[in-house]
This record gives sequence, structure tokens and C-alpha cells, in this order.
Amino acid sequence: MTIIDGKETAAKIKAEIATEVAQMVAEGKRAPHLAAILVGHDGGSETYVANKVKACAECGFRSSLIRFESTPEAPLDPKVLMDEIARLNADPEVDGFIVQLPLPKHIDEQAVIEAIDPAKDVDGFHPVNVGKQAVGLPCFHSATPAGIVELLHRYGISPAGKRVVIVGRSNIVGKPLAAMLMQKGPKADATVTVCHSATPDLASITREADILVAALGRPGFVKADMVKDGAVIVDVGTTRVPDATRKSGFRLSGDVDFEAVAPKCEAITPVPGGVGPMTICSLMLNTLQAARNRN
Ligand code: GUN
Repeated sequence: MTIIDGKETAAKIKAEIATEVAQMVAEGKRAPHLAAILVGHDGGSETYVANKVKACAECGFRSSLIRFESTPEAPLDPKVLMDEIARLNADPEVDGFIVQLPLPKHIDEQAVIEAIDPAKDVDGFHPVNVGKQAVGLPCFHSATPAGIVELLHRYGISPAGKRVVIVGRSNIVGKPLAAMLMQKGPKADATVTVCHSATPDLASITREADILVAALGRPGFVKADMVKDGAVIVDVGTTRVPDATRKSGFRLSGDVDFEAVAPKCEAITPVPGGVGPMTICSLMLNTLQAARNRN
């Protein structure tokens, strides 16, 4: 059984990116610049954005963090956010930017995503990028699915000809991952099934998976009896669960019952240290691509 080390793989990729950025700068070009908008103080979002800013430094990128306060008593006026997006769309010094999700409930998330210039949408969430991805055109791929594809590739695990079962149909993981893995091509060519909360007898389907992807956000949901012997398991879950033994008061839990499932499989991604670091790498790669496009 192999524990797939996303942290180590991500470190290698960031070093590769830093080498290319150093070359760009040596040629007199501007380093890539990623901006991130963070609204409010969601604990998970604070951590993710801090990790993205840190990754920018590791890759030699410039980064800008733009914060807006929003509380139930003083909610952010959505127009302020939209104006900032318009400013970033027009700013020639910014190659790409993201709006960290989730946003407070009173803000229309889809309208925000659609306000981002697709050429700067390094999250790959804009319908133009989602559509291009679906038909296999060059675009910004959504970060988590692209990170999973790269992680499997770097571990020599080919999805070609395999039965892939994805549990979860979110717009940022399940749907785009299914689209990527069912494409023609060397890192794809899989037979993909997407299951969700309305799927009857889920276990009978997950047991057929050569590669099982859990992306539903329910800690420990995938049990040993849902997994075929020798399967590859990709755990996308990152739910904060209370843990009094930790200084932070919580730990991150994946969607897979790791202790029970790991002994059965050929390879498995841990949480933390599996898919998460790869997601940030994909964002860096998309930002590098945006900078190349600009040059
Ligand atoms: N929230 C959870 N994952 C993501 C992500 O990849 N990008 C953004 N912008 N928000 C998120």
C-alpha cells in the first residue's frame, strides 16, 4: 500500500515553477502576480488563502490579498466586491485573481464568478472556462481536479481504461473531474461514474471502482466495505472536526475512514497532505500560464 504524498509532490512542482519564474525574471519579464479577495473571516478560508499567499512566495510570484469585512450586522455591499473585480479585470499588473469561496449568504456567488474576466479566472470557475474544459479546449482547469490528475500521473497511476467512481457532484470537484477524466488523452481515457446523495445503493457502485474519489464533504463516509481490494483512493474531504487534543481545537478529516480503508488499497491520499497541497499547485500553474499568455 502506497500513501500518496501530495505535500512532497506539490513541493517538487513549486520548485519547477520557481525555476521557470526565475528564468522569466532573468529575461526582463515581470513575475506572475496573483491577487486573492477574501470576504469576512471564515476559518477555513483564512487558512486556504494564507496557504495560497505562502505558495506564491515559494514560486517567486507577487501576490496581493484584498480583504473586505462582512458581518451579519454590517454586511458587505455586493457592489463594492463587484467594483473590485472590475478593477482587477482591468489591472494590467495582475495576471490572475480568485475570490475565495464560500461568500456570505447575501452575495450571489455565481454572479461574482461570472464577473471575473475568464482570461484572469485562474480558479477555472467561470462558465467560459468550465465549458472549454468540457469540450477539451485550452483553458484554466479547476484547481482541485487538475491537482488530482497530476498527482495520479506523478505516481504512475494511469486512469486510462480504468473504472473511476466519483462520489460528489460539486461544480468545483465532482463535475469538472468527471469531465477531465473522461476526455481522450494520456492522463484521462477513464470510464467515469458520478454518484451523489440521491444515488441508491451507493456501495455497490463504489465497490466497482478501480479509482475511487470521495468528494462529498462527510468525514469518514467511505468505509472498508465500500472499497474493492487493490483500489486507488483519492480523498478530497477537508472538514474541520472538533478535537480537544489539538491547540487549534479541531483537526481536518477526510471523507474516507483512512484506518479501515488504507490496508485494502493499492494507494491512498491522506488528509491532510494529499489532495489539498496539489490544489494550490494547480492555482500556481494556472497563474504561471496566465503570465505566459500575457508575455
Ligand atoms: N473554496 C474552496 N475551494 C476553493 C477554491 O479552489 N477556490 C476558491 N476561490 N474558493 C474555494
